[in-house]
Amino acid sequence: MRLAQVLFSQGFGSRRDCAGLIGAGLVRVAGEVVDDPHAEFDAEGLVFEVQGRAWPFHAKALVLLNKPSGYECSQKPRHHPSVLSLLPPPLRTRGLQPVGRLDEDTTGLLLLTDDGGLIHKLTSPKHHVPKVYEVGVKHPITDEQLASLRTGVVLDDDPLPVRAAACERSGEHALQLTLTEGKYHQVKRMLAAVGNRVETLHRSRMGELTIDAQLQPGQWRWIDSTEREVLLSRGTPAG
Ligand code: URA
Repeated sequence: MRLAQVLFSQGFGSRRDCAGLIGAGLVRVAGEVVDDPHAEFDAEGLVFEVQGRAWPFHAKALVLLNKPSGYECSQKPRHHPSVLSLLPPPLRTRGLQPVGRLDEDTTGLLLLTDDGGLIHKLTSPKHHVPKVYEVGVKHPITDEQLASLRTGVVLDDDPLPVRAAACERSGEHALQLTLTEGKYHQVKRMLAAVGNRVETLHRSRMGELTIDAQLQPGQWRWIDSTEREVLLSRGTPAG
């Protein structure tokens, strides 16, 4: 693939912008400046640098963001900045979208991708990727509440009960809840249905993925192809 096309596909602006960056000597491959936009490279596995920052080529982008509180998952946020504003311009240009949504005040693991098929697979009700939430609640969590969350509670928009795949007390006012589906405000509504109230909500795990200790709130990292495969296989349809 031509170097200008590589940059264009990775979100570095219009074709003209990309040719301009290359012509200005701002792009390196294997440590060497390449100033010919027509230079050909094998894109698969290519790592190039733009203005000193290394970019691995990804035909489709998939990243993990440690979402801070105070950001909306919407592309057109109404009251708070969008999580997309935490990504560098090339990823925004590529049109990454959150895989499902976390509320503005929810923190933790959020995947974003420009792979529409992957969004569809991971958010499909058939695809049971377990999502683990650390929940802080207003009232002490009781055994009865934990039991109801495990056996199933009825939410206002559906007569069928929804249940936690797992649910453990982690403190007087704290529990860890695992869901394999993702209804609107599901954790908050489930806790409200058992007579409690969510005060803090953090997603700590999705399938095998967790947030690495060094990834601070607001920071992101690439998901590699092995992690992607595991994520997809972990959530194989349950019939
Ligand atoms: N459930 C909620 O209520 N909110 C979230 O952000 C995620 C799950």
